[in-house]
Amino acid sequence: MYVSHLRSITCSICRTCHLHKATSRTSLVARPASSQATTSALLDRIIRVDHAGELGADRIYAGQMAVLGKTAVGPVIQEMWDQEKHHRETFERLIPEHRVRPTVLLPIWNIAGFALGAGTALLGKEGAMACTVAVEETIGGHYNKQIRQLLEDDPVKHAELLKTIQQFRDEELEHLDKGLEHDAEQAPMYSALSNVIKAGCSAAIWLSERI
Ligand SMILES: [Fe+2]
Ligand SMILES: [Fe+2]
Repeated sequence: MYVSHLRSITCSICRTCHLHKATSRTSLVARPASSQATTSALLDRIIRVDHAGELGADRIYAGQMAVLGKTAVGPVIQEMWDQEKHHRETFERLIPEHRVRPTVLLPIWNIAGFALGAGTALLGKEGAMACTVAVEETIGGHYNKQIRQLLEDDPVKHAELLKTIQQFRDEELEHLDKGLEHDAEQAPMYSALSNVIKAGCSAAIWLSERI
């Protein structure tokens, strides 16, 4: 299938992959301080960027609903938006729980997300769906990268976060499939539009991990 490779990393609890077996063994022994510092930095970066990303996703769907909410595709967008609200709330809870500083770019992602959602929706249903496909493909890959990093660091310690990210990754990829089902590829200048949005998302991820 179109994105089957993005669903390929599901081994946090499987106990069959080499990565998981190796890291499970190392988690049973005492960890040096430098390793704990690495874990702390990893969690800091992951929670900060995912919080920013889910806020951005919430605003994208809000923008799409502002334009297309009363059309036939409204309920489809609303369903995806409801899941994004849950993703955002989850990371809003994890930020204070892990004492993570949110990115200073939140006000920008707030406006940029809404503008991206509304702007692509103005191209029609297909434009909104093309935006969804591009964003969710980027986020699916991003979450898979984080799953690999958490597994490498300590799959036992990160079991709960891994479960959360894997669930959200699966839901993002369901959004991607919905976008394709609803004619994303029929959007005007689909390929160019998709590439621009993916590049923008990757840049937003890079920045939100760092500042
Ligand atoms: Fe999400
Ligand atoms: Fe999503």
